[in-house]
Amino acid sequence: MANDLRTEINRRRTFAIISHPDAGKTTLTEKFLLYGGAIQTAGSVKGKAADRHATSDWMDMEKQRGISITSSVMQFEYDGYCINILDTPGHQDFSEDTYRTLMAADSAVMVIDAAKGIEPQTRKLFKVCAMRDIPIFTFINKLDHEARDPFDLIDELEKEFGIGTYPMNWPIGCGVNFKGVYDRDKRCILSFADAHKGRERLGAIECEISDTEKLDELIGSYQREELVEQIELLDGACFDFDLEKVRHGKLSPVFFGSALNNFGIETFLEHFLKMTTAPLPRKTEGDTLDPVKDGFSAFVFKIQANMNKAHRDRIAFMRICSGKFERGSEYLHVQAGKKLKLSQPQQMMAQERTIVDEAYAGDIIGIFDPGIFAIGDTVCDPSMKIKFEGIPTFAPERFAMVEQIDSMKRKQFTKGMNQIAQEGAIQMFFEPEAGYERVIVGVVGELQFEVLEARMKSEYGVEFIRRPLAWQYIRRISNDVDPKKLDLYETEWVQDYRGQNFLLFKSEWFITRTLEHNEGKLELVEFGQ
Ligand code: G4P
Repeated sequence: MANDLRTEINRRRTFAIISHPDAGKTTLTEKFLLYGGAIQTAGSVKGKAADRHATSDWMDMEKQRGISITSSVMQFEYDGYCINILDTPGHQDFSEDTYRTLMAADSAVMVIDAAKGIEPQTRKLFKVCAMRDIPIFTFINKLDHEARDPFDLIDELEKEFGIGTYPMNWPIGCGVNFKGVYDRDKRCILSFADAHKGRERLGAIECEISDTEKLDELIGSYQREELVEQIELLDGACFDFDLEKVRHGKLSPVFFGSALNNFGIETFLEHFLKMTTAPLPRKTEGDTLDPVKDGFSAFVFKIQANMNKAHRDRIAFMRICSGKFERGSEYLHVQAGKKLKLSQPQQMMAQERTIVDEAYAGDIIGIFDPGIFAIGDTVCDPSMKIKFEGIPTFAPERFAMVEQIDSMKRKQFTKGMNQIAQEGAIQMFFEPEAGYERVIVGVVGELQFEVLEARMKSEYGVEFIRRPLAWQYIRRISNDVDPKKLDLYETEWVQDYRGQNFLLFKSEWFITRTLEHNEGKLELVEFGQ
């Protein structure tokens, strides 16, 4: 029994896929699922581009959310591994949930468009992964298109992210001259043949780099010479491979390929699954939990409201951190101090939502939430009484003034806003001298505003006016500083529901200015700290 538990947990791999929109995250995910046999056809992970970008009305948005949530946690089997993929939504859906999802992963796959390199959303998501030192694997995609110089791309990764890189393979040309990749581990070439487009498994032609004759036949003498030169340079100048560094997020293995053409996916999976870790121990307040030895424990990292409008349901997504979950067993919801039986746990198996009877450390389950859970809550065996370290709060980057239209509905307005803020769907701030009829809402992605508007209307029957504000940065100030005595220019003073003081700024320039003009009087603290 204990052995079964160990085997089940050790074969789990739980990772997030991160990228800037359009780098090829969906395409890559789809190829993974095809390899695992979890889906039969390409194109079933997300709708077509035209559908994806329609966010205009609630129905569309709900439909889109429905799609994004179905694909947001996927489980499939491959080569004896049980793989959980956590999707991080693109810019249309970007929200605090995106960041929180990364808290549930043990590693991350970062997809980069070979023509574009690092883009803003990759940067933001990388930072959150780096906070936890989780292993990061880079897939440089779209080599079948014109691409930037590969040395340039890895240089950018190292300089911008401050990590080492280790190219596992190396591209031979790009665009129309893309001939394949050189596998540095196996010291052979995987040839890219256009004939293998689409879903079929790649027909790899293996060839030693020393086999000049065969290489000339495959890639031509010009590209052969260039390749040999580049590999020599790489072997001499690049970081040494060090699995420990990979596992601590200090060295990122880099793979080149083309997701659309199914090129490089199998190699990627093969190496990735060996290098990435089974579920890692998690810190609790005061201790560290062992995924295999300790009893069942999980934490809530995401709460999704309105998955089904007819039932007004809310699903709390939990990452299992240790032990085995059994449906119908009694567990403790630590924060509420209450025991509960989880009788309808759901899991996403590729496209389907299914009820699960058991799940293991590394898995994600979704359970019906009658409004009792908050982000970061712990559920565990009643004997354990542990609490996981909280999920960090991420600084909002967009702000809007939200003002109720009908003052008769003040109660509903306050209730709805508080409830939605408590779920972690938005951050709420108050102007100390204004009443509670208007609040400042902070979010990281536009979609959060849209969801707020739609939910306030449908769940609380309240409409409001939303005015975008120019603030982009928020900093905390300690409560012994009197904000009224500060020299503030184009900067607003707000409070959260606990009365904690914050300042809102339009740009970094104003942050510097405020510090200079209040020297000795003021210290600014990053949000969430
Ligand atoms: P995302 O989830 O990161 O936003 O990207 P997605 O996979 O949707 O890919 C964005 C676009 O890039 C898609 O084209 C997709 O077909 C294309 N793409 C992905 N991988 C590759 C690749 O290896 N090579 C090339 N040439 N293109 C690739 P689209 O026309 O925007 O969408 P669609 O109509 O094909 O769905």
